[in-house]
Amino acid sequence: MATIYDIETKAEAAMDAALKALAREEPVAIPTETVYGLAADATSPYAISSIYEKKGRPRFNPLICHVSDLAMAEQYGEFDPVSRKLALAFWPGPLTLVVPLKASSAIHPLATAGLSTVGLRVPAGFAGKLISRFGKPLAAPSANTSGRISPTSAIDVEDDLGQKLRVILDGGPTKVGVESTILKSDETGVHLLRPGGLSVEDIERVIGGHVLRDVSQTGAIEAPGMLASHYAPDAKVRLNANRVSLGEALINFGGQSVVDADKAVARFDLSPSGNLREAAANLFSTLRAADRTGAFSIAIAPVPMTGLGEAINDRLMRAAAPRGK
Ligand code: TXA
Ligand code: MG
Repeated sequence: MATIYDIETKAEAAMDAALKALAREEPVAIPTETVYGLAADATSPYAISSIYEKKGRPRFNPLICHVSDLAMAEQYGEFDPVSRKLALAFWPGPLTLVVPLKASSAIHPLATAGLSTVGLRVPAGFAGKLISRFGKPLAAPSANTSGRISPTSAIDVEDDLGQKLRVILDGGPTKVGVESTILKSDETGVHLLRPGGLSVEDIERVIGGHVLRDVSQTGAIEAPGMLASHYAPDAKVRLNANRVSLGEALINFGGQSVVDADKAVARFDLSPSGNLREAAANLFSTLRAADRTGAFSIAIAPVPMTGLGEAINDRLMRAAAPRGK
């Protein structure tokens, strides 16, 4: 059974318990600004295997390695000038940069799925402090069973993985609410590998040009983000709904008028005022809440594709995708 440590009121106990578990090569659930991560020593094959095992995650998927700052990132990855500029602009923050792995890197190939590149990110707050105390990068996917909705609170983690973990750090609800944006810069430009908590508009302002959305040309990564059924609630998910059918729960956005909304089993709004940041922060907890109503289907009103809307729509499409077994 997991012990939950509040990082505000029990900061030292939390730090201590996390550092001890990491030293035992055990995964620890940690809050980040995006979602809760299942973190373990990225240089230890035993620790990394344990992440895959607890998540039930296919091993061919590379994990993001979390570092405390750009200096630490540069011990493991080769930064071209554009990647460095992006790191300086947005770290700590919801951005992962895929860069060539340094020959001298101590990150274990199990974390990178044997690729010659590595996804690096500097998380904000307590997670960053934990990494700098630990002194080694932490591999950390979201702290949920593979294919399930990502956790945005310590209770979400406990509900899903509580039986399999000893330490869960509680930092309250996550601020951003969707996973980091993943970018890869090369001689052909800056490629978007996964839309996430940092908007393309913000990135384009910094690079002074366009971000390329051509995932397939950037390599062989068919990531969980790309598997059909990801972020799947038990209920069926119906997108771009402008009416509610009998027995459905409704997730609205910006108070749009939806036919028969009053007949919904339960009604939610990701952001009544139509704010996409608020909607992203509420997305996963609202999907969980709608699922808990027991409705057979969740009707979701359209969400605009601008700003964080791109990441929200990406996650919603995966939640609605046909399920494997
Ligand atoms: O917000 C986040 O990014 C969360 C929190 C916990 O930090 N972490 C997260 O990690 O989502 P993870 O391990 O689930 O993300 C892995 C994804 C892969 O599916 C792949 O898309 C991408 O990161 N990735 C990692 N390494 C890569 C690489 N070398 N080349 C291309 N993509 C890579
Ligand atoms: Mg995940």
